[in-house]
Amino acid sequence: MSALKLLLAPIWFAQLFTGAKSFVDNPLIRSDRLNAMGLHVARLRIAHGMAARRRGQLAQAVEPQDRAAFDRDGVVEIPQFLPPDIFAALREQILSYQGMARETVQGDTITRRIALDPAARRAIPTIGRFVSDGRWRALARYVAGFDIEPLLYIQSILSHRRNAPPDPQINFHADTFYPAMKAWLFLDDVPADGSPFAYVRGSHRLTAERIAWEKERSLSVRTGDCRLSARGSFRVDLNELARLNLPQPTRFAVPANTLVIADTFGFHARTQAGQPTTRVELWAYGRRNPYRLRTGWDAGSIPGIAERRIPLRWWLGDQGAGIVPQSWRPVGRKRPGDEA
Ligand SMILES: [Fe+2]
Repeated sequence: MSALKLLLAPIWFAQLFTGAKSFVDNPLIRSDRLNAMGLHVARLRIAHGMAARRRGQLAQAVEPQDRAAFDRDGVVEIPQFLPPDIFAALREQILSYQGMARETVQGDTITRRIALDPAARRAIPTIGRFVSDGRWRALARYVAGFDIEPLLYIQSILSHRRNAPPDPQINFHADTFYPAMKAWLFLDDVPADGSPFAYVRGSHRLTAERIAWEKERSLSVRTGDCRLSARGSFRVDLNELARLNLPQPTRFAVPANTLVIADTFGFHARTQAGQPTTRVELWAYGRRNPYRLRTGWDAGSIPGIAERRIPLRWWLGDQGAGIVPQSWRPVGRKRPGDEA
């Protein structure tokens, strides 16, 4: 073993007890020998067991019908989420807000994010109504499995903007090997050909079939030709769903003011749009080290810190840009509906 490997070995070992998922970077996570002995499956089982335990502690605050829908499907769709007048004001304030934006390119699609930082929250005062909504707060925490304040962005998906291969997000995949939360409040109607979100109902469950599939994948992704699978977001072929006892995906072509919230361990994708489209949404994300015992104790959820996390993350990313490539480029001040 080289001196460098000896130095890194404790870090690689410690990463086994975090959400580290890449089969490229860590020789323990990618080890065929350890995965044949069940390392990946053990990390999965423990993470899911702990998430179920934490969700049990958060369940009481959740509306019973939301909890039943989530436990059954792994995804919840709530039409007319905000009162119409509140939604109209929120939509108007978001679409006219010009803030510091970041963009990333994946295939032919550009994704833009604008942080809901203190300046944005002053310009979009109605956002407070969404953030403090009891139904949202309880459900977001239950799905994440943590009592944490989700990260919140204004997100725009600009499809078919470049002459390039298709957006890789149109391939069905699990984001991680452990439960994690993503949510969308759509500001406009999402038609069937407008790149709707799609989800395989029930694929959030760690069944015997899924465990067998995960084990198989843990032994093959490293040498396969899918870079994103090798990085720990396993892609799934729709032909494999029957073997996993799962249905074909549901497409969420939904009216404006629909909230969709999902556990992204479940298989999901962005459906390919028929023509260039711009989809603007309020987008939330809740994820934490899956091996934490407690649901709370998150400094990042403290008011005053919570709304500054995204600019801080971007700034930290910029500082390390020379070492780790940054995919989110600053593009100056933009409105959510502006062209790229
Ligand atoms: Fe994803």
